[in-house]
Amino acid sequence: MRIIRVENYEELSKRAGALLAAQITLKPNSVLGLATGTTPIGAYEHLIQGYESGDLDFRAVQSVNLDEYEGLSGSDPQSYRYFMNDKLFDHVNIDKERTFVPSGRAEAGAECVRYDELIESLGGVDLQLLGLGRNGHIGFNEPSDVFPAGTHTVALTESTIQANSRLFAKAEDVPRHAITMGIRTIMRAKKILLIASGADKAEALKSALYGPITPQLPASILQLHSDLTVVADAAALPEAA
Ligand code: GLP
Repeated sequence: MRIIRVENYEELSKRAGALLAAQITLKPNSVLGLATGTTPIGAYEHLIQGYESGDLDFRAVQSVNLDEYEGLSGSDPQSYRYFMNDKLFDHVNIDKERTFVPSGRAEAGAECVRYDELIESLGGVDLQLLGLGRNGHIGFNEPSDVFPAGTHTVALTESTIQANSRLFAKAEDVPRHAITMGIRTIMRAKKILLIASGADKAEALKSALYGPITPQLPASILQLHSDLTVVADAAALPEAA
């Protein structure tokens, strides 16, 4: 595990953006595993700047996203497909046909099977970017009694619904279910980049990095990955941790 502790969100975005950019430069046809949430937005801005300055070429890049809310179509501004288009894909020369997000509108059982097969057919993920839920979730793998393996549907916990409600007009609007890549798929990525910012992530991050490996804190399994980089700011990773 490699831990990069930086002062603030701006620095985190720069460092995470640079690691993603390096992946694309070193392997132009990378399969990137991408994440939503507010944390990766700054890193995506750095990628857009890299494209605009002519340093980054996304032509051969493919991407698979971690998750999607059930019931939302890609044109819904609250959907993760919309988020990815808005925050990254619309601003770089990626072939959108080769960017994949689980469908929130398809029949869930079949979509889970299709998504796992799709990732397999791409040859797996080269670099998986992960944010961290306040309860230690990754993707939408919520605390549970087992580590779910493949893509599956999940009932969101009350704490996740509350945390994500800041992005909706009201908490009632937050979908109660989501479809997410499973832990095995995430752990099979060749490299993982976990980013965490802000004091409200400190407890989950500390447990994830130094606590027991348990499905009650899904991110704790990342300790077993052989190529994990963590970029966290001072608020998320106080020196005392
Ligand atoms: C959502 C996403 C996660 C993300 C988490 C944290 O629940 N499904 O992939 O890591 O939010 O989001 P934020 O970065 O906004 O704190």
